[in-house]
Amino acid sequence: MQPKSRSYRIVLTATLALAISGCGPEPDPSVGFEMPRFDSQELAEGRSIWMGTCRACHLLGVAGAPAVTDYENWTPRIAKGMPALYKGPIHGIKGDDGKYKMPPRAGNDRLSDVQIQRAADYMVAAVEHLHRQASGE
Ligand code: HEC
Repeated sequence: MQPKSRSYRIVLTATLALAISGCGPEPDPSVGFEMPRFDSQELAEGRSIWMGTCRACHLLGVAGAPAVTDYENWTPRIAKGMPALYKGPIHGIKGDDGKYKMPPRAGNDRLSDVQIQRAADYMVAAVEHLHRQASGE
């Protein structure tokens, strides 16, 4: 599962300033980097679902969602193992006030359990990939 692009770090550095000023080219203009791609068919599908449904909260970490770049936030979550990690996006996660922080099916009722799992698999792979890139490994 090697990522296809090894130029992420260069792209990140080169486009961060552009992205902040709102004119980044290919990389996601919100953050200045492109979300990683992986060779696996499942992760490619997960990426597409993630882009459509999960990105809204998890790209930047909106409303208490752990951002893809927030490795420290993700570490204890990933340690629970994937079966436990799937439960949140499938059933939703409520805050102390009893309101959903992440709604069931991440708010997208058209997604099957398997699709949500693939999106979660993709997010974890992306979190780890971005962390490795950021720490220069
Ligand atoms: C409306 C915003 C929102 C959307 C959309 C969203 N999430 Fe979340 N997600 C959250 C928030 C907020 C949390 C943190 C909840 C907490 O731990 O208190 C979270 C946490 C998670 C976690 C960690 C769960 C755990 O057990 O620690 C996973 C995995 C996850 N989301 C996957 C997904 C997937 C997959 C999608 C897309 C299918 C998605 N999320 C879409 C808001 C969102």
